Amino acid sequence: MPNDDLFNSQLETRNSKPQPVECLGMTFESAEARRAYFLDKLRERLRDPEFRKIEGFPIGSDEDILNLSDPPYYTACPNPWIADFIAEWEAQKPEQPEGYHYHREPFAADVSEGKNDPIYNAHSYHTKVPHKAIMRYILHYTQPGDIVFDGFCGTGMTGVAAQMCGDREVVMSLGYQVKPDGTILHEETDEDGKKVWRPFSKLGIRRAVLNDLSPAATFIAHNYNIPGNSGAFEAEANDILSRVEAECGWLYETKHSDGRTARINYTVWSDVYFCPECTTEVVFWDVAVDRSAAEVKDEFACPHCSTNLSKRNMERVWVTSLDADSQSTERELKRVPVLIKYSFGGKRFEKKPDDADLRLIEKIKSTPIPYWVPTENVIDGKEIGRLHSIGITRVHQIVPKRANWVLGTYLSKCKNPRLKLAVTASLMNLSWMYRWRANGKGGTTSGTYYVCATPQENSAFNQIKAKIKDLSAVASDSKNILTNQDSGSLSIPSNSIDYIFLDPPFGSNLMYSELSFLWEAWLKVKTDNKLEAIENSSQGKDINDYRTLMTACFFETYRILKPGRWMTVEFSNTKASVWNSIQTALTEAGFIVANVSALDKKQGSFKAVTTPTAVKQDLVISAYKPNGGFEARFQKEAQTEEGVWDFVRTHLKYLPVTKRQGPLMLFVPERDPRILFDQMIAFYVRKGYPVPISSQEFQVGLSQRFIERDGMYFLPDQVAEYDRKKMTSGAPQQLSMFVSDEASAIQWLRQLIKEKPQTFSDINPQFMQQLGGWSKNEAQLDLRELLNQNFLCYDGKGPVPEQIHAYLSTNWKELRNLPKDDPTLVAKARDRWYVPDPNKAGDLEKLREKALLKEFEEYKNLKKKCSRSRGGCITSYLHLFG
Ligand SMILES: C[S@@+](CC[C@H](N)C(=O)[O-])C[C@H]1O[C@@H](n2cnc3c(N)ncnc32)[C@H](O)[C@@H]1O
Repeated sequence: MPNDDLFNSQLETRNSKPQPVECLGMTFESAEARRAYFLDKLRERLRDPEFRKIEGFPIGSDEDILNLSDPPYYTACPNPWIADFIAEWEAQKPEQPEGYHYHREPFAADVSEGKNDPIYNAHSYHTKVPHKAIMRYILHYTQPGDIVFDGFCGTGMTGVAAQMCGDREVVMSLGYQVKPDGTILHEETDEDGKKVWRPFSKLGIRRAVLNDLSPAATFIAHNYNIPGNSGAFEAEANDILSRVEAECGWLYETKHSDGRTARINYTVWSDVYFCPECTTEVVFWDVAVDRSAAEVKDEFACPHCSTNLSKRNMERVWVTSLDADSQSTERELKRVPVLIKYSFGGKRFEKKPDDADLRLIEKIKSTPIPYWVPTENVIDGKEIGRLHSIGITRVHQIVPKRANWVLGTYLSKCKNPRLKLAVTASLMNLSWMYRWRANGKGGTTSGTYYVCATPQENSAFNQIKAKIKDLSAVASDSKNILTNQDSGSLSIPSNSIDYIFLDPPFGSNLMYSELSFLWEAWLKVKTDNKLEAIENSSQGKDINDYRTLMTACFFETYRILKPGRWMTVEFSNTKASVWNSIQTALTEAGFIVANVSALDKKQGSFKAVTTPTAVKQDLVISAYKPNGGFEARFQKEAQTEEGVWDFVRTHLKYLPVTKRQGPLMLFVPERDPRILFDQMIAFYVRKGYPVPISSQEFQVGLSQRFIERDGMYFLPDQVAEYDRKKMTSGAPQQLSMFVSDEASAIQWLRQLIKEKPQTFSDINPQFMQQLGGWSKNEAQLDLRELLNQNFLCYDGKGPVPEQIHAYLSTNWKELRNLPKDDPTLVAKARDRWYVPDPNKAGDLEKLREKALLKEFEEYKNLKKKCSRSRGGCITSYLHLFG
């Protein structure tokens, strides 16, 4: 039976006879017949008003949803066939040996995985997890044939990872060995400190059910998760593109110096301002851009009256005109073309736009595009709102007209939905958000709708062609299932999933539905953002709404996960309050957290690369759903002390015995008696039972029933393993502090940065991992605030402080014996936090300034409060300021 691949089957049909395919126990004469059959079924479902009431149902007409869907594998709405697939996959699972019992410790190793992978990069998204990182978790927690779920799937990397667990070459590229029988081995350190290869997993694909609220996400994800011959996609897409080029190549024509016709690669545009002094128009490019020095000046002189100008003291020029495509009058920022880069005779040239170029631009502007392009209003939103302020109020204005024209023409010729992928993949680089840079390294700022004063209009032909090539790297054999709904109410049977990997939105980090709006306008099906799990003031959602939405999602993932199985939750980690919300939501839903470790996606996002406060690592929570046996016993024992010990005994089984960082053994905070007590309380509270034991009784009982090592508790068989490993690695490296309140947090930080001054992005993930023991009565303190108030940060000005110098010169050979103002040393030292030295007058002065500033802030706040209530309480603070 050939692969049930609609795309290739269509191509095959053109050249030869259609091939029969099998799907959900039925045989169809071709993939097209399969699709037609299920489209009819979906059409019927769409007519049912109850079906459309499912939470998170996308916004779109029946026809538009059907046009995007490839049922039963992908529906751009809740997928009605998930239960059927799960039943089929369960029946196909390899048989397990008799007496097989699933047991895994949490995957406690930190994972580091780069993003330089053609598959990963083929289609961008606002944030992504490399599929190779997810593979490590899937291989650890599952067996071939197991069913994996991702409820915030974005571009579907979890599905790609599930499929690649069956690809020997890819598995080996992760540093594992694969035996001929498919056993996967990973490297461990044995009792004698020697490296050994031990069995870790089995080669073989896993199945995946993927969900997202966003139709753009599920559409992209589907195309990463269906069988596809990349060559066929590339050929078909390029064929369409060349027809488009024949039809509208003239859009990008310009004249070479000898008058012959050449093809534009890109045009740079510039905003136009008024000089506040002489009120003449100033083209930003002409006055601010110094190409020879590769810089854009902040300050410059008005070419007419020589007044000193900057963007801040000038006003933008606006123009009003009739928009040929929306047939409405639009008020837009004035922008003029200033530079054209083009190719001619195999070489690259540049020119200033001449009269013919300007005439062509005018002609294009006044001619309506002969194909459909989206012209609806741009939605309101916290991030997308910035477009309104620069006069972009309709979707098509986000993209220069020529690109809209080419995209609309290309889309009109796409018979197969998959070909639309070249449109979504190239849209961002074709938009006004693409920024020109003097060094040639232009690009968009991911996660934003920021348009700079000198945007670069790229050739749509070049961009689409490049994307078709990139997308052809996405060849897969997988048939993973996509559904589009709210993860807080899933149409997936209870207790049916073997493992869950989640990468949810993190508070107010990224506004997904706003960022996907441009794609979705082109796809004609949009996110219903009512239940989007983000903090967003324009959606009226604060941190509590976020927590409530995440709790609902975790309740659902708890329901669908099999008892005794694991869920991994990946989080970017910028804010303690959001991190706390996540932990609470997990516990409320019934999950028990067994471990927190780090995931380093190496090359950071734009923000992570450019701001010292951004974080480099994400955090990974491993949580499990208690198994059925324990839940049943607990019903009987809940009122007795035995219930407590049964909980602890069961929980200890799920905790890592050891944790390492390189050769060092680390403390496992989850085995600390205080954290164990906390977990037990949380479990009782969630079940609605009174806790039958006090904290003191718990401590005593723990030491009577379990074995203590280095401040951690173990089961008897675990302690033997622990002792063995400790003999070779030495006692665990432990920052012995237990972070439970502000004072201990400061102590902990002091220990951490005393020997090794570090940047915020290095400190934050370590700090977050300590917060498990935070007293519930303590307000969550922001790490930034703690650092600011108690420590010093070197800003790169003046000589490098002794504390940082000592650390750097001991650990980096090349930094030894350098003067304290050496630029290499300064660069390495910049943004590191360090412990102030009480014997140094300079450090004391800086601290005093901070204390005064803090007091002054408190004073200001108090004053505000008092002036709102009564005037009396100011005096108590006045002494501080003499
Ligand atoms: C961090 S991204 C996931 C990115 C993904 N891991 C990847 O590699 O492409 C989070 C996703 O959650 C989705 N989302 C937000 N609220 C949701 C909800 N209530 N239900 C399902 N998905 C939601 C967003 O649309 C977004 O795609």
